[in-house]
Amino acid sequence: METMSARAFTPAEVADLRAAFPYFAAQDQREGAPAYLDSAATSQRPAVVLDAERQFLETANAAVHRGTSGAVGAATEAFEGARAAVAAFVGAEAPEQIVWAENATDALNIVALGIGEANAGLGVAGSERFALGAGDEILVTEAEHHANLIPWQRLAAKTGASFRFIPVREDGTWTLDDARAALNARTRIFAFAHVSNATGFVAPVAELVELARAVGAITVLDACQSVPHMPVDFAALGVDFAAFSGHKMLGPNGIGVLYGRPEMLDALPPARTGGSAITRVTMESAQFMPAPLRFEPGTQPVSQVVGLGAAVAFLTQADMARTAAREHELVERLVAGIAENPGLRLLGPADPARRVALTAVSVEGIHAHDVGQFLDEQGVLVRVGHHCAQPLHRALGITSSTRASVHLTTTADEVDRFLDALRGAQRYFGAEVSA
Ligand SMILES: Cc1ncc(COP(=O)(O)O)c(C=O)c1O
Repeated sequence: METMSARAFTPAEVADLRAAFPYFAAQDQREGAPAYLDSAATSQRPAVVLDAERQFLETANAAVHRGTSGAVGAATEAFEGARAAVAAFVGAEAPEQIVWAENATDALNIVALGIGEANAGLGVAGSERFALGAGDEILVTEAEHHANLIPWQRLAAKTGASFRFIPVREDGTWTLDDARAALNARTRIFAFAHVSNATGFVAPVAELVELARAVGAITVLDACQSVPHMPVDFAALGVDFAAFSGHKMLGPNGIGVLYGRPEMLDALPPARTGGSAITRVTMESAQFMPAPLRFEPGTQPVSQVVGLGAAVAFLTQADMARTAAREHELVERLVAGIAENPGLRLLGPADPARRVALTAVSVEGIHAHDVGQFLDEQGVLVRVGHHCAQPLHRALGITSSTRASVHLTTTADEVDRFLDALRGAQRYFGAEVSA
């Protein structure tokens, strides 16, 4: 990755970054504070994000895009300003390419359900491009988070399209050649994760988009685990749609993002409808506003949007290339430590250059929930279970794993505590394996 040429944060810079987060600042004051290694599930928030939300609520709260008061105008300006900031952060060419959703799950559903509406005869001008039926194929990979799997299963069932997937290899990864073999003239939608939340594997997005485009397939990128950790430019990648969550990128809960190329958003009908979002309503029918407002019916989560704008400003100032370089060092440390322990099976690529921000392991002879409980007692906070990727775990012959994930605030000491605690769990449960 080109970002690896950037200079990683020094330990002093990481200490400064941690001091900007009330959660870490409080912990760093006391002995034996837990190591937070669960940012892939949800990240902690810097004070500027909490302050932005609070300040908006205390001084400027109003319903946006409704009414004519100056207060509504100011709130709408903050709301739309955050949209422009998020658009710039992910390389969108215009703020209108950013649709607010509840989270990434919701954003992916906006696309899948919208295509379902188009196929149910409830389209808007240009929706024919989403026509799906028997003989068409929806393609995903076996490594997907359930959020980028179940909506497509259901769309296939509704429309009669075939549901297909690229199987993972022994290490949980898949290749460009695997995609080339699976894509064909019948493929209409290709949905895949930029970075897997279970293996950390980084997909070669630009090349995949090129392959998909060559057969006329629409691409949907689950960017939940990439946008918080590396520079991402959706326009350069060429994807048609992309989804990510605010709460994994130092922002608030309850706010997610759908990115779309203008011609895609223009042709996608809204699946959820109601107040706002319309131009004309009669007792028989409704006409809708252009994107993105067409997809934002009802009262919006304005303070969360403002908070996400502040998160993006914080990440931009920290520098995403330097963040990626820093997290790469941490992942190298994790992978090296895991490789030294013969009782651990690493999910995903052994080469740290092919993964981002996380490592999941299966510990020989110990159930992940026992590992999780032991680690918790040692003050190491990780995620155990199937990480909403049951098919992937099944393909690897396991039911669950233990995942440590990092962010720009993670220290080398926290990584070492995770590796030590795994050894401790192996000793405690009598599951040590010698080389
Ligand atoms: C790769 C990936 N996709 C989708 C999601 C769903 O995100 P959310 O629960 O914020 O909708 C997650 C969250 O864990 C994820 O890691």
